[in-house]
Amino acid sequence: MNKKTECILIIDYGSQYTQLIARRIREIEIFCLVYPFHKITKKLLNKINPSAIILSGGPKSVLDKKSPSLDKSIIQLQKPILAICYGMQLVTKTLKGKVKKSTFREYGHTLVDIKKKSLLFKGIKGNKLKVWMSHGDNIQKIPKKFIISSNSQNKIISSIENKKDKIYCLQFHPEVFHTDYGSKIIKNFVFEISKIKDKFVIDSFINDKIIQLKTIIKDKKIICGLSGGVDSTVTAYLLNKAVNKNLYCIFVDHGLLRKNEATEVERIFKKKFKNNFIKVNASYIFLNNLKNISDPEKKRKIIGKTFIEVFEKASKKITEVDFLGQGTLYPDVIESIPFFEGPTAKIKSHHNVGGLPKKMKLKVVEPLRELFKDEVRKVGTKLKISKKLLMRHPFPGPGLAIRIPGYITKEKISILQEADFIFINYLKEKKLYDKIWQAFVVLLPVKAVGVMGDERTYNYSVSLRAITSVDGMTADFYMFTNSQLKEISSRIINNVKGINRVLYDFTSKPPGTIEWE
Ligand code: XMP
Repeated sequence: MNKKTECILIIDYGSQYTQLIARRIREIEIFCLVYPFHKITKKLLNKINPSAIILSGGPKSVLDKKSPSLDKSIIQLQKPILAICYGMQLVTKTLKGKVKKSTFREYGHTLVDIKKKSLLFKGIKGNKLKVWMSHGDNIQKIPKKFIISSNSQNKIISSIENKKDKIYCLQFHPEVFHTDYGSKIIKNFVFEISKIKDKFVIDSFINDKIIQLKTIIKDKKIICGLSGGVDSTVTAYLLNKAVNKNLYCIFVDHGLLRKNEATEVERIFKKKFKNNFIKVNASYIFLNNLKNISDPEKKRKIIGKTFIEVFEKASKKITEVDFLGQGTLYPDVIESIPFFEGPTAKIKSHHNVGGLPKKMKLKVVEPLRELFKDEVRKVGTKLKISKKLLMRHPFPGPGLAIRIPGYITKEKISILQEADFIFINYLKEKKLYDKIWQAFVVLLPVKAVGVMGDERTYNYSVSLRAITSVDGMTADFYMFTNSQLKEISSRIINNVKGINRVLYDFTSKPPGTIEWE
C-alpha cells in the first residue's frame, strides 16, 4: 500500500460481521485493515498508524474472566474510536463503567430512540431507528465523561459517546444491512468524526503495486497458477505488467471444468501470454484419483493434493524459478487467522494452491491480498480484462466434482456440463446472469422414472442453484417466476440425454452452503 494512504484499523473480537465492517469502509473508498485482537501490539499500531479505530462485536462476554480485553494503549493513541456491540462493552468496562448480564437476549430487528443529537446520527430523519441487535449483556453504568445518545425499545442503552475524546459506542450493528441508516452512521464516523479524506484509489493501487512487484521480483522468474477465474486472471495480468516475460502461467485442466471452459481459457491466455502459458491436461489423473470416492471432504482433499502434484511437475519444466504468484484475496487473509484457542469451525476444506510454496521452496507473491472481490474486478477493468471474464460467476477450485454428490464418472461430468451450459445460457439470454451472484446445476445421485414420448425413462435428477449475495458469505436463493422455471426445466430435459427431472434448491446460506459439497 501507498504509505500516505490513511487507514482505519478494525480490531476483530470474533464477530461474524467483522468482514462486513471492512466492506462498508471499502465501499466508501477508504482503506482499512482487519487484525484479530490478539495480534495487536504497539509495534503494529506504530506501523499501521491508523487514522481511526473500529472495535468489532464478538461472541464472548466481557464478564467472563478469560474474555478478550482492550489494551489501554489503543485508547491512549487518542484516535477516533467506533466500538460496536462487544466493543462497546469492552470500552465501558475498560473505562470503569459497568456491564451486566441481561435477563433476555436482545436479538434481531429492534427499535431505537435517539435521545441526543450526535455527529454519528447526522442526517438521519426522525428520532426512531430500526436496527439489528445481537447481544446478551448490556451497559448498566456508563463511563465518566460519556453521555447516552440512544435507548432501545427494551430500555437498554443502545449508544454512548464521549464527543471530546471522539469515542463512539453502539450496542447495535451499523454494518448489517438490516440497520436503517447503517452505512450513513459508518460514513459519519469516517468523514464527520474522523475527518478522513484520503480515498483508496484503484489507479494508484495498480501503479504502487507494479512498482512494488518490480522491486521484489526484479529479473527473477515467477510462476502463477491460472484457472481462468477472476482472481488468478487479475493476478496474472498485474504480474505480467510488472515482470512481463519472466511470468509463466500454468493452467491445470482437471477435467472438472464447465463446458468449453478449458478451450476458452487456453484461447484467451495463449494469445495474451504466448509461450509463457502452459496448459496441462490432467483430467485422466484427477478422474482416476477420484474413482469410487463419494465423501465430500475426501474429494476436496484428493483434488487439492493432485493439483499440487500436477502443478509441481509442470513447474519443474521451467528452470530457476524464485517466486509463486497467488490470487489470494483479503477475505481469505482474514479467515486464515485463527481465533481464540483454535481455528474457527471449518465447514469445508477450500481448494487453492496454498499448499504449494512450502514444498517447492518458492517465495509467495500475493498482489491482491489487500482487496475484496469487487475491488479486484475494478483492477481487472483498469487492466482492460474483458467484462465477460471479470463478471463471470465464481467457480470453485474443485470444479464440478463438488456439484456431483456421490461417485464421479466421466458420463456424469458430461451430463452436468450440458445441463449447466443450458441453464447459464438461459440466464444470459434473459439478461438474468448479472442479477444473480452465482448459478449452476447440481447432478444428484438419484435416478427417477419418467416418460418421454411413449418410452419409459430411468434417468438422473438435477437441481438448479441460483443465489444472490454480496460476498458469498451469506446468500439468498433467487426467486424465478413459474414460467422461467418451466422453461429452464423443459430446455434441460429436452436437450440433455440422461436427465428426466429438474428440481429447484430453495435454501439460503445459512443454513445451507452455496455449493452442495
Ligand atoms: P460455500 O459452498 O462455502 O461457497 O457456501 C462459498 C463460495 O465459495 C466457492 N467455493 C470455493 N472456491 N475453492 C474455491 O476457490 C473451493 O474449494 C471452494 N468451495 C466453494 C463457492 O462456489 C461459492 O462461491
